[in-house]
Amino acid sequence: MARVFVTRQVPGRAIERLQEAGHEPDIWPGELPPGSALSDGLAGAAAALTMVVDRIAPDLLAANPGLRIVANMAVGYDNIDPAAAADLGVWVTNTPGVLAETTADHAFALLMAAARHIALSDRDTRAGGWRTWSPTAFLGNDIHGATLGIVGLGEIGAAMARRATGFGMRLLHTSRTPKPDLERDLGIERVPLDDLLARADFVSLHTPLTPETRGLIGAPELARMKPTAILVNTARGLVVDQDALIAALREGRIGGAALDVTDPEPLPLDNPLYSFPNVVITPHIASASHATRARMAEMAAENIIAVLAGREPLNPVNRPAAPRA
Ligand code: DGY
Repeated sequence: MARVFVTRQVPGRAIERLQEAGHEPDIWPGELPPGSALSDGLAGAAAALTMVVDRIAPDLLAANPGLRIVANMAVGYDNIDPAAAADLGVWVTNTPGVLAETTADHAFALLMAAARHIALSDRDTRAGGWRTWSPTAFLGNDIHGATLGIVGLGEIGAAMARRATGFGMRLLHTSRTPKPDLERDLGIERVPLDDLLARADFVSLHTPLTPETRGLIGAPELARMKPTAILVNTARGLVVDQDALIAALREGRIGGAALDVTDPEPLPLDNPLYSFPNVVITPHIASASHATRARMAEMAAENIIAVLAGREPLNPVNRPAAPRA
């Protein structure tokens, strides 16, 4: 019976699947504080089912020679160094293909919330602000007919574009490679980033966090955006230079921001981002629908089951030359 450290409670049948395969899931019952709880949990484990916020540094893998796989319950895996893990013989897996639509739902919801002051007006109404009706209260930006700039036309970016077509939005994208078929089907124009930033009413980020995308949206990029434009980030907090974003918001140089990801996460309560009425913040929940989170957990469990049975995982993001046995 192999012990599988699961760093949080997870939905769906993932735990049952691990038990059915003869393993012993050891589930951390609450919020996992950084540091010792993670290293204590990994001690003696053959596999770990982890979340995007669990930093799995190479020294943790080296300190736990029995650990054969880290199955991240996310499509992103910037919390792990897959190459270093491969050198140590540890498989790293992710959950591709199951969360794009749900994440795009949330990105579009954030876009709408920021454009039409949904969160702000809800807070104001609950606080007794609805004393009269004013034709100038909570004026927002139109979504229909506006231009959406998508940075990263991968699975999630394309799903975002499909939603935008229903609102009659004009579509631009910036991606490393042209995608002529998709561009034709979606009616989306590929343009350089500077051009996209200058033309878009909404800029939505859909890139993974890599050395190339870290700080992709910094002060010069924010300066190119229209003063009314809204930045939507459901990618990773570090894709945006957060200090530059705070400065742009403080000086009214952009229209607002809608953020599902920040740096750090959780975002401390004294962070200036909370002080702007034109900023909407959600706690990294873009993939958080019942069905999608269950599928993600189950995929992570299936990857673990495969590796512990001596097979290759279904969704590897690295390839150890000498996998630990
Ligand atoms: C992912 O899968 O990378 C998301 O950010 C987690 O919800």
